[in-house]
Amino acid sequence: MIVCSCNALSHLDVEAAIQSGASRPSEVYTARKCRAQCGNCVPGMICLLKEALQKHNAFPLAPSLIAKAAPPAIKKAG
Ligand code: FES
Repeated sequence: MIVCSCNALSHLDVEAAIQSGASRPSEVYTARKCRAQCGNCVPGMICLLKEALQKHNAFPLAPSLIAKAAPPAIKKAG
């Protein structure tokens, strides 16, 4: 799938850049030896970056956020 039509970058190019350590769109462009032109691909690229970084657990949730996200304890009646 083409992610950046200006630079003909596919999702595989973006994933390769991520594997090489890219964590933001500008680093993806640099890794693939190109640069942003129209910028229309940035939202899609951010989605791929977030997905890849979450998959590799690069953004662990802070304990305070985990506590807020946890369901409330259920109290037994009676
Ligand atoms: S679509 Fe990527 S810079 Fe235009």
